[in-house]
Amino acid sequence: MTENQGSNLATPNVSADSSGKSPTTPSASSPATQRTVSNGRGKGIYRARIAGTGSYLPERVLTNADLEKMVDTNNAWIVERTGIHERHMAADDQVTTDLAYIAGTRALEAAKLTAEDIDMIIFATVTPDQPMPSAACVLQKKLGARQVMAFDLSAACSGFVYGMTVANQFIRSGLYKNILIVGAEVLHRLVNYKDRETCILFGDGAGAVILSRAEDNQNSEILAEHLFADGNLGDLFILPAGGSAMPLSQKVLDEGLQYVRMKGREIFKHAVRTMSQGCQDAIETAGLSIDQIDWLIPHQANIRILDAVAKYFGIPTEKVVVNVGKTGNTSAATIPIALDQAIRDGRIQRDQNVLLTAFGAGLTSGSMMLRY
Ligand SMILES: CC(C)(COP(=O)(O)OP(=O)(O)OC[C@H]1O[C@@H](n2cnc3c(N)ncnc32)[C@H](O)[C@@H]1OP(=O)(O)O)[C@@H](O)C(=O)NCCC(=O)NCCS
Repeated sequence: MTENQGSNLATPNVSADSSGKSPTTPSASSPATQRTVSNGRGKGIYRARIAGTGSYLPERVLTNADLEKMVDTNNAWIVERTGIHERHMAADDQVTTDLAYIAGTRALEAAKLTAEDIDMIIFATVTPDQPMPSAACVLQKKLGARQVMAFDLSAACSGFVYGMTVANQFIRSGLYKNILIVGAEVLHRLVNYKDRETCILFGDGAGAVILSRAEDNQNSEILAEHLFADGNLGDLFILPAGGSAMPLSQKVLDEGLQYVRMKGREIFKHAVRTMSQGCQDAIETAGLSIDQIDWLIPHQANIRILDAVAKYFGIPTEKVVVNVGKTGNTSAATIPIALDQAIRDGRIQRDQNVLLTAFGAGLTSGSMMLRY
């Protein structure tokens, strides 16, 4: 990691009632052998553990040198301000669910499960193949999964942590055993490659997790989560057209309103504040101290944002999973991709405490403390 942006770091205002308390209902069929867990959020019969992860980055790479030929920018500026060197781009014939299919298949393999075992699919994305059917239903078909509940979750870059939180409730309650949570995006199709403030940031990719019911002899579980949204800050990062407010038209295309627009400097400030606040709440709810955190995986938006959050908590660089330099910001996919890479290369080990934190358009934010 590089320099920190201390001046951008406002003191988080952690609210006492924001721990995401969610009562869970023991299933009538719960075996008596399952131990009851209490983690400060009410009691649940079951615990949810990450059974497998997978990810996929498309082959095509867009470097800073490529961008220099497209807009008025330069490698030095991009690296210094964002930490990004390159990002991946889906091939012209690849859609979001293609990326998700590969990531999901890899997660199933890692979990030693098949598509038949999936009880529910949550697909976090802002770039579904089309508005309907949902990406979750398309993925369900591609995987050959059973006719289980499947839906898209729209919380932008926080979508994966939101999805994990939703899935956790269904596992804790005893309703489901194996849930596929995917974060996948083909963001480059929402980016205007004439807008130097946005086009340097974003990339494509997919990450997936199988969240499963933990057995008694398995120590892994989700310890705490903190979700947050503030619609008053919605205009900081928008995609104006393509919805009911502004359907696609020739005027939209002429004015480039089908592309994302962003107030970067303001987002930066809110990102650091909300992620720090969310982390603090999740750490406290889990009853952990900072030095018990083995890994911090922040949403990979900008190296300076990651630095600022880590610095606020005094978490050393070597405990922060960073891949933004090679992936750019892949929105809902950044955390599951980084998680999968760090598990597969052996950095993250079972029983270690992992802190996830994200922010995104909305403005949304989600943080989660888990024991892998
Ligand atoms: C976008 C971001 C990289 C800009 O960095 P910054 O340090 O805040 O830069 P500023 O906005 O202060 O701009 C500084 C100057 O660089 C210029 N600039 C902007 N993009 C540039 C680019 N790609 N290349 C060269 N110069 C650029 C600006 O025009 C500005 O010029 P000026 O001083 O003449 O007005 C940064 O604010 C950021 O990452 N914000 C968060 C965005 C984000 O994460 N969005 C996704 C949310 S999930």
